[in-house]
Amino acid sequence: MPIEIAPVTPDFVARITGIDLARPLSDADRQAIVSACDHYAVLVFPDQLLSKEALVAFGRSFGEVDTSLQKKLLNHVQNRLGTDEVTDISNVDAEGKVAAPDHWQTITTVGNRFWHSDGSYKHTPIRYSILNAVTAVAHGGETQYADLRAAWDALDETTQKLLSDKVGIFWSHNTRDQLKIPDTQAERSAFPKMRWPLVRRHPGSGRKVLWCDSKVCAIEGMPVPEGRALAHELIEHIGQRERVYSHKWQPGDLVMYDNRATVHRGRRFDHAERREMRRVETVDDSCSLGPAERQDIV
Ligand code: OGA
Ligand code: MN
Repeated sequence: MPIEIAPVTPDFVARITGIDLARPLSDADRQAIVSACDHYAVLVFPDQLLSKEALVAFGRSFGEVDTSLQKKLLNHVQNRLGTDEVTDISNVDAEGKVAAPDHWQTITTVGNRFWHSDGSYKHTPIRYSILNAVTAVAHGGETQYADLRAAWDALDETTQKLLSDKVGIFWSHNTRDQLKIPDTQAERSAFPKMRWPLVRRHPGSGRKVLWCDSKVCAIEGMPVPEGRALAHELIEHIGQRERVYSHKWQPGDLVMYDNRATVHRGRRFDHAERREMRRVETVDDSCSLGPAERQDIV
């Protein structure tokens, strides 16, 4: 069956059918998916509930699968899925039951409610994230995706100029601290702060992207409050409705998104309902400018 790509807008989000992701990808299909992701940045594959093994194999077709979050942090708490290559994005406890609202597993996913690009706080971030819904909730619980290329294009020239040589400092706990998620000091310092240019070019599309998310705790060369206010302004700009696609999950949906060109956030839902997703992430080969010198900026 031929792979079919149905765009949601001319250059952001496409639905892909006519392919069985549980089977090994042909080179042609793999290439078609990479090209589609370069162009649309978010790909929705309906009706593809994969086993953990098949999900990992699909991820591996696009590069090394990241395990750093599991190894550094998540294994200390709960590893229900029993593998470092699949992250448990759910409100389910170790026994498989819906976890209480104040259970660690529930609270940690609340950290996903701020706009972010997966791994933006890592030295080597994430290229593709692949989310597969096992169950979905009746109300809310959408994942929203915002287009960082369109966000750059829509900035006025003065702001583009201001940002052109700016470097942001990204920290894993910028959001978790705001939420007062009770992480330990060891967890808070597991990933040192990283430096990234706020304007980058996507290698696959050649388009410039506004590289800013909720992990930005300071902008170099600016007083801390000024930098944080600017980051806040940019995130508001990025999240404008006309550049956002909201995905309402059905069980079996698989969404693959390019973290180099998008940010995303989870939306609120009733934690009494079971929401269970599995995530595989591939390692990107771009590197941050290095650890931030001023580790004291928070
Ligand atoms: C993620 C994430 C949002 C959601 O898994 O990386 O941000 O809606 N998820 O669960
Ligand atoms: Mn995420």
